[in-house]
Amino acid sequence: MNTDIFSKVDNYISNLLAPEDKALSDTISTLVSEGLPQHSVSANQGKFLQVLMIACNAKRVLELGTLGGYSTIWLARALPENGKVITIEVDPHHGEVAKKNIDNAGLSHKVEMRTGKALDILPNLIANKEEPFDLIFIDADKPPYVEYFNYAVQLSRPGTLIICDNVIRDGKALDMNSTDEKVVGVQRLNEMLGQNTHVTATILQTVGVKEYDGMAIAVVNRV
Ligand SMILES: C[S@@+](CC[C@H](N)C(=O)[O-])C[C@H]1O[C@@H](n2cnc3c(N)ncnc32)[C@H](O)[C@@H]1O
Repeated sequence: MNTDIFSKVDNYISNLLAPEDKALSDTISTLVSEGLPQHSVSANQGKFLQVLMIACNAKRVLELGTLGGYSTIWLARALPENGKVITIEVDPHHGEVAKKNIDNAGLSHKVEMRTGKALDILPNLIANKEEPFDLIFIDADKPPYVEYFNYAVQLSRPGTLIICDNVIRDGKALDMNSTDEKVVGVQRLNEMLGQNTHVTATILQTVGVKEYDGMAIAVVNRV
């Protein structure tokens, strides 16, 4: 099948329902000018996250993997005035670029950035008795996705949505002989989700302007 159609339809949808304003398109431009990878969610995926946030009345959001702040801007824009996104980023340069982009979007008052490894910061949030989050978006490095997910459940309440991006990886998730640590990381997560009684979960395949992939979506039943 000619996959051009996926990009064309994605652009058709985003032109109608998720048009980027200057703050978002400038954010994408800074990825190029600052030498960051083009690994942001698409505009439609940003809008999808907003729809999920509004459906669960999200006031507190946790994000793992900020990059240049593109998804953070989508998330912060769907918050009420008193809402907050805590976003975790290991790379200080990515964090600096994101801070400027978030500031440029007028959202600094809603975004708290934590710089460091998610595997160090998440247990600290738990130890500090951080209030539960309403939505948690996991989009950092893939090998520890299971560990991230288990921490995310501990930072949840019944009803919290946990979204994990890039869990199909162009279909490579089917390759049980894969030695790619990213593939193995998402396979571990996908298999765990089927057994995990704390959540009800599914995976949506995603096509569009980004590579063929998938997003896991879980709602927490019990912490
Ligand atoms: C896929 S990008 C995030 C894209 C961003 N969510 C967006 O859509 O605009 C992944 C980010 O996770 C960061 N990252 C990688 N390992 C990490 C870790 N151990 N802890 C926190 N962040 C990490 C990377 O530096 C990178 O900026």
